[in-house]
Amino acid sequence: MLMASVVSSAPEDHLKPYFLRARRTFLFAWLFSFCASLFMLALPLYSLQVLDRVLSSHSIETLLMLTLIMMVGIVFYGIFSALRTSLLNQIGLWLEAALAPKLLEDAITKSSLGQFVNAAQHQRDLAAIKSFLSGGVSTLMDAPWSLLYLLVIYLIHPQIGVLTVVGIVLLCGFGVINELAIRKLNALSSEESLKSNLLADTASRNAEAVETMGMMANIIHHWQRFQKPAADHAEHAAARANLIQSVAKIVRLFLQIAVTAIGAWLALNNELTVGGMIASSILIGRALQPFENAIALWKSFLIARESYRRLNAALASTTQLERGTLELPVPEGHISVENIIYTPAKSAPIIKGVTFRLAAGESLGIIGPSAAGKSTLSKLIMGLLPPTHGAARLDGAETFKWNRANFGKYVGYMPQQVDLFSGTIKDNIARMDLEAPMENVIAAAQMAGVHEMILRLPNGYETQYDQMRYSLSPGQRQRIGLARALYNNPRFVLLDEPNTNLDGDGERALLGALTRMKQAGITFIVVAHRPTIVSMVDKILVLKSGTVERFGPRDEVLRMYTPAGIKHAQQQAAGEVADLPPHAAEGGSV
Ligand SMILES: Nc1ncnc2c1ncn2[C@@H]1O[C@H](COP(=O)(O)OP(=O)(O)O)[C@@H](O)[C@H]1O
Ligand SMILES: [Mg+2]
Repeated sequence: MLMASVVSSAPEDHLKPYFLRARRTFLFAWLFSFCASLFMLALPLYSLQVLDRVLSSHSIETLLMLTLIMMVGIVFYGIFSALRTSLLNQIGLWLEAALAPKLLEDAITKSSLGQFVNAAQHQRDLAAIKSFLSGGVSTLMDAPWSLLYLLVIYLIHPQIGVLTVVGIVLLCGFGVINELAIRKLNALSSEESLKSNLLADTASRNAEAVETMGMMANIIHHWQRFQKPAADHAEHAAARANLIQSVAKIVRLFLQIAVTAIGAWLALNNELTVGGMIASSILIGRALQPFENAIALWKSFLIARESYRRLNAALASTTQLERGTLELPVPEGHISVENIIYTPAKSAPIIKGVTFRLAAGESLGIIGPSAAGKSTLSKLIMGLLPPTHGAARLDGAETFKWNRANFGKYVGYMPQQVDLFSGTIKDNIARMDLEAPMENVIAAAQMAGVHEMILRLPNGYETQYDQMRYSLSPGQRQRIGLARALYNNPRFVLLDEPNTNLDGDGERALLGALTRMKQAGITFIVVAHRPTIVSMVDKILVLKSGTVERFGPRDEVLRMYTPAGIKHAQQQAAGEVADLPPHAAEGGSV
């Protein structure tokens, strides 16, 4: 029974509902865009009136009146275009507020299931769409209102109207050519730069290995394999777009000149006034401007469209885990794992039917060679991975189905790789609850035996982790991770190889912590192979290739792995213990 249902349906548009919800705002933005265009008509009409009326009538009064009307018109133009931009900005902000947490949540869920996600790219894509909304969309919104200018031109003189239509058609043609010429190149460029960004990310995370082993040249060379084509494609696209834009600009200017020339010719034939000639020259410029701008904006439109596509794909594959919503009371700490099997997608089973029980307050050591499935079993016990079959229960309730926020209050978990969050050491121990009471944090740190170590940090509990990232050793991080696991008196704690990076002091602190956990009656599981820690537990489970090789009271299991025990077992059942896990054998030397 697989609980993770990955909903995937390619043709559906998962972003559309968000835009549909903003359709009223879009409509208002468009209306404001119309009003702004209407007031923008004031300028050519003003020129027309001044040239045709004021100059012939010599009426200063008319001039003053017209100028006043004109100024009011410009103020309204400013107000309406500001309102439009502000509404579009609002849509962008609102979209981000609605989507960003959802995308982050989905990225965390997918990562917890071992899937690859590029969470930073999602946020970059969202930013690209947001920036296009506030920049590009306003220009595109203006384009339909060019018809308004076209109408006025037509009223001034039909022939000039025809010329404007020719201009609009030509520019639309250039727009299509532009799209065809740069779309593919831009897509290729963004695909390659995605890869180069990802590589740059991993390279900086592996900086120490790169530096010490002289891998710099190789890494840069490897990075350039993606970065160079990305830059080349982008440059190629930019060159083409530049050419098309320049030609479009020349055409627009030609048309403007043509309008003036034709206007002058019409004026000579008394078919048009001087004012009409000047006004139509301004108007054709206005009518063609949005189309010319659209060509210039096409690149950012393509970027936004790519981002839209990627986000849509991310939303299409959102992983919804069918977890329960039940809030359960504080558990006592009984653990039961019932014939649990775990088979990841497209893979052989990793856990092949593990069963065991722990009473409240009991402790267990899970030992076994690398890749035996210890971490996978731990994640199944903690309800992180959905069991393919069987169940892991805490006080009878399936851990995977348990409401996470509620479950988290009662348990502590230390993953094999401990990394901390940006924030203070206190915040980290308090599981990023920024309002956590200090005494609870100190209690957890003392239980983990890490209080003194934290006090020795530059700012004690208030030390910012980011500033200490490189001076905190993995062992120190692990010890803070232990305090985080023990925060707020959990009833059940699982530590995945808590001693991998510990020195003697750290190990002693860990042993002290385990003793205190025992005294506090906490049920705990320690994944380990070091004999010192195994000596602290009540029971031992030997895991090998995803199956339980041994499970029982500590001494009984360990006896099997002492040299004498091995010999004894070999005599009893030859072959069964012949290929002992090396770690388990180590454990026998206690
Ligand atoms: N999501 C996964 N998909 C496929 N294989 C996996 C996945 N997670 C772990 N494995 C494989 O399962 C095996 C057990 O891994 P793990 O539980 O980390 O072992 P251990 O903690 O005992 O070293 C390894 O061979 C690992 O490569
Ligand atoms: Mg492991």
